[in-house]
Amino acid sequence: MTTTTETAARTTVLDASGVTMRFGGLTAVRNVDLQVNAGEIVGLIGPNGAGKTTFFNCLTGLYVPTEGKVSYKGTVLPPKPHLVTKAGIARTFQNIRLFANMTVLENVLVGRHTRTKEGLWSALLRLPGYSKAENASRERAMELLEFIGLQDKADHLARNLPYGDQRKLEIARALASDPGLLLLDEPTAGMNPQETRVTEELIFAIRDQGIAVLVIEHDMRFIFNLCDRVACLVQGEKLVEGTASEVQSDERVIAAYLGTPFEGAPGADEVAEVEKAEASAATTTSTEEEDNR
Ligand SMILES: Nc1ncnc2c1ncn2[C@@H]1O[C@H](COP(=O)(O)OP(=O)(O)OP(=O)(O)O)[C@@H](O)[C@H]1O
Ligand SMILES: [Mg+2]
Repeated sequence: MTTTTETAARTTVLDASGVTMRFGGLTAVRNVDLQVNAGEIVGLIGPNGAGKTTFFNCLTGLYVPTEGKVSYKGTVLPPKPHLVTKAGIARTFQNIRLFANMTVLENVLVGRHTRTKEGLWSALLRLPGYSKAENASRERAMELLEFIGLQDKADHLARNLPYGDQRKLEIARALASDPGLLLLDEPTAGMNPQETRVTEELIFAIRDQGIAVLVIEHDMRFIFNLCDRVACLVQGEKLVEGTASEVQSDERVIAAYLGTPFEGAPGADEVAEVEKAEASAATTTSTEEEDNR
């Protein structure tokens, strides 16, 4: 007999619970829970400095969270980036990280190293075993380049690609590790509206191939078009989570973006204290002005 809990465990791809990341006195991520289920595209939004990238770094083993647990398909992940990739989570970076002096195709081939026994160094140093693996991987890499629309630029150096193409190439390289979950950190940053629409279609196509997606973006139109569910981080805390329409009409989210504090908001106490101090300073100044008259 299958219990409800077993069914839920099967469909949850990513399960992050109580994730906290402190840097000295700064808590960049505070007690964040987030699930991504099979077949879902989930958005992660929040103002600059909210902790979105730090949270990704905790999910992918770049940071060891101060507290909390991250599981992928029911197994707790070791906090080591290569083991996380091997387990099935791939990512792109907010600041593009490509091998600038390698070709487009080579960048994708390097992305396959976790799935070939020759490994990364063999790929980078082109050791003899690599040529065999390269032949085996080349077809898959070309397929991926076709999928993202860069097949005609396979021999170009990565550094010569326009910015939008570099972002797409990062996605292809991430896909080369055959992930079950893809994390995208601002995939349309610096893109024009047409490139953004193409990226939107690309992400739908990735989801349709059975890969769950968690995406950070500041472009709200893009996020609300794309995502089944959206979570909003503010000052490291998950403030709101819901469907696109629930989140876009939530006044706490609007306030967070406009910088307007609201009752119970993280940091609201500090804001209230500053306002009080400013008000009392203003009263003192006006009294002094009156005294000087
Ligand atoms: N390695 C680090 N050491 C110390 N502080 C850090 C580190 N990484 C991030 N922070 C701090 O953590 C907070 C969250 O930063 P993070 O980059 O995660 O925000 P973000 O939501 O991704 O912002 P943006 O939308 O601008 O990319 C910021 O105050 C940042 O300065
Ligand atoms: Mg960021």
